[in-house]
Amino acid sequence: MIFKSASIFTLPLLLFSTLILLTSAAPSAHPNNDVIPPEILLEIDTMIRASMERQHVPAFGVALVKGDATYAKTYGLRDVENNLPADGNTLFGIGSLSKAFAALVVTRTLRDLHPEMGEAVLDTPIATLAPSFNLTLGDRYRSEQVTFRDLLAHRVCALQELSGLLSQAYEGKEDFYFRYRYAPEECSFRNGMAYSNALIALSGEIVAHMVNSTYEELLTQLLNDLGMTGTTWIRASDDHNNMMHRAVPYIWKEGSLKRYNTELLKMIAPIFGGGGMLSCVNDMVKYIQLYARNGKIGDNQVIPEDVMKWMTTISNTDYSGSTKTMDNPDTTLDISVGYGLALFSGIFDGWRRIGHGGYMPPFQSSFYSYPDLGISIFVTSNGPGPLLESEGIKTEIFYLLSGLTKPREIPKIQPDHTMQHELSYYTGGKFTNPKPTKTSVSKSQIQITLDQAVGSYGSGFNGEMNITIRTNSVGIPQLYWSYGRMAEGWLVQIAPNRFVLTKWASDFWMIYWATGIGFGAIEINFLDIDTLQYSEIGLVFSTNFKKGLKLDDLPVIPWQPDSCGK
Ligand SMILES: *[C@@H]1O[C@H](CO)[C@@H](O)[C@H](O)[C@H]1NC(C)=O
Ligand SMILES: *[C@@H]1O[C@H](CO)[C@@H](O)[C@H](O)[C@H]1NC(C)=O
Ligand SMILES: *[C@@H]1O[C@H](CO)[C@@H](O)[C@H](O)[C@H]1NC(C)=O
Repeated sequence: MIFKSASIFTLPLLLFSTLILLTSAAPSAHPNNDVIPPEILLEIDTMIRASMERQHVPAFGVALVKGDATYAKTYGLRDVENNLPADGNTLFGIGSLSKAFAALVVTRTLRDLHPEMGEAVLDTPIATLAPSFNLTLGDRYRSEQVTFRDLLAHRVCALQELSGLLSQAYEGKEDFYFRYRYAPEECSFRNGMAYSNALIALSGEIVAHMVNSTYEELLTQLLNDLGMTGTTWIRASDDHNNMMHRAVPYIWKEGSLKRYNTELLKMIAPIFGGGGMLSCVNDMVKYIQLYARNGKIGDNQVIPEDVMKWMTTISNTDYSGSTKTMDNPDTTLDISVGYGLALFSGIFDGWRRIGHGGYMPPFQSSFYSYPDLGISIFVTSNGPGPLLESEGIKTEIFYLLSGLTKPREIPKIQPDHTMQHELSYYTGGKFTNPKPTKTSVSKSQIQITLDQAVGSYGSGFNGEMNITIRTNSVGIPQLYWSYGRMAEGWLVQIAPNRFVLTKWASDFWMIYWATGIGFGAIEINFLDIDTLQYSEIGLVFSTNFKKGLKLDDLPVIPWQPDSCGK
């Protein structure tokens, strides 16, 4: 028996202030399976409340599917200062959970456009399917051969965007996508997993171009078809803190909750398809049914079964996890096998599991589905920090919902498969995704004077930063650095060629703080008089910046006309 038998649903027990319960009106094929037993919900409730208190979580949302039963509930405050409670329509940043929406838009659009091709449409070069899009990547081979499966399963293996994304160094989506042609190779084509928010979003732009539409329009159609009418996305024009239903994000600092600067959320606006959606538990409880019920919401087959199969078929390997060993023969299987189309696929305690984490600092969300058990679990919060414990909650909920016996030894929180690619560049203390271009800053003996450091520095891929001299608060001239729309602060020279940021002049540090790594250590390291290397927390995620370099100085086609590759 997989499920504990459901007892009579007793409403009074469940009437907490913000309870939302959705039950299918249609008669159920599994009469014992259309409610989640109240004593189970009570256990989940107690667990969530305790975890929120331990971690100072301002608002938390949970959505559950078990067979025909669905359940959604929120806790806490969506705006602490104004004492506004979260409810079923409260919008949380779902981060990288947005990616599978892009994949759904892409797959169902392609299936409608080329029904004769079947799944092969995913493996046909975009240059063939959409020649007028003029897709241009770092070399001729990728530009001509890249497919939708490559984009949606992180198989392009170009360096991931990070530094320019965070600081908002891009002028908009065209600028963002254009610059991707200057991204260096991270691994050989189709031979690794180089996580990329922008390339997922780009896949949505390409199908929109193919049907003479916009990604915004195609996504809106999908959301309407799924009944997710409250769901929206982060836009550059948002006034997030004063918008309907929005959960205000918080960080935890000096013993209290502090409002996160919501301008920082706009990093994702140009490529929102890769991580900028905002959703609520009332909507997500519909979405997660798709995965537990093979494309159905209630009794409606909203997404065709073949599209569901395309989504969840493993398209890239990403093996990691814990298996039994001689030292630890009692461990529970917890394996990430690979990546489908914007979804991780793996095995937990013997059961097939698909899902994804989502991290738009400081919002943290996560979704797991166990299709063979008919179970889906979604959790979300508006901060205040790396909620590694939410992983434990998902595992506890899994055993409670399934009625399976919890093994003696549940795998430790690490590795957290759905979370390891969140934002997706770091989660908690792990600032290891994407892979840095260099694991340490380069050594150089060059002597740079303050005057020599002053200038505008550009990178084809990562945008532009400026160094100027300003008079500081004690009346002394000091180097001042600014990068993109959001990052600026004061530099101090610590070696003949090295400068470190000693004081932020913007709220940019909040991004690092939210992940639990302090204020973030920024360093500028001159490799020669015109070239600087930018590092964050001792790691280099960007290409080098050249003095005076402008985007217009670079060739539009970044390879030689007669070359077969670069
Ligand atoms: C692709 O290139 C052609 C020829 O240069 C141009 O006419 C067309 O507008 C380009 N398409 C896009 C989407 O930029
Ligand atoms: C998009 O517009 C072009 C040019 O007007 C047309 O040739 C093409 O058939 C249209 N495609 C679709 C899917 O409507
Ligand atoms: C850098 O300086 C240029 C020229 O003064 C200016 O246009 C640009 O906005 C500045 N960029 C940043 C990131 O401050």
